[in-house]
Amino acid sequence: MTLTRQEKQALIDLANTTRERAYVPYSHYPVGSSLRTKSGRLFTGVNVENAAYPQTMCAERVAIFKAVSEGEKDFEVITVVTDNGGSPCGGCRQVMAEFGLDTIVILADGNGKIVQETTVKELLPGAFTPEHLKR
Ligand code: THU
Repeated sequence: MTLTRQEKQALIDLANTTRERAYVPYSHYPVGSSLRTKSGRLFTGVNVENAAYPQTMCAERVAIFKAVSEGEKDFEVITVVTDNGGSPCGGCRQVMAEFGLDTIVILADGNGKIVQETTVKELLPGAFTPEHLKR
């Protein structure tokens, strides 16, 4: 499966537009995410912060959880857009790994410029996955 440059840009632009809805009164660090399932459906997410800080939820996880709650678990690509092209946190990498190490991960900055294109496998080497719970 190969994504065209236009497809990648459309996914980044979608995440960046969605990012405007990030709820970030504490960090002022809006994050937007978009994901495309293997079946072609699109889901988006933003970070949602909370006055009780640890209850904050990251944008990538919101997108993934929205997809899973709609019956989609096979992801082709997930994008993460931040002001400075920041990388997904460890918790989000683990949640991505749950649904496949080969998912493409595209990171972009606030101008929509790609800063890294990678995979979950590369972001989380030695991941603990559902395979480890099989007996
Ligand atoms: N954040 C994300 O949404 N995704 C990440 O992978 C890293 C961090 C959010 C959480 C918090 O709202 C803000 O960025 C600063 O940590």
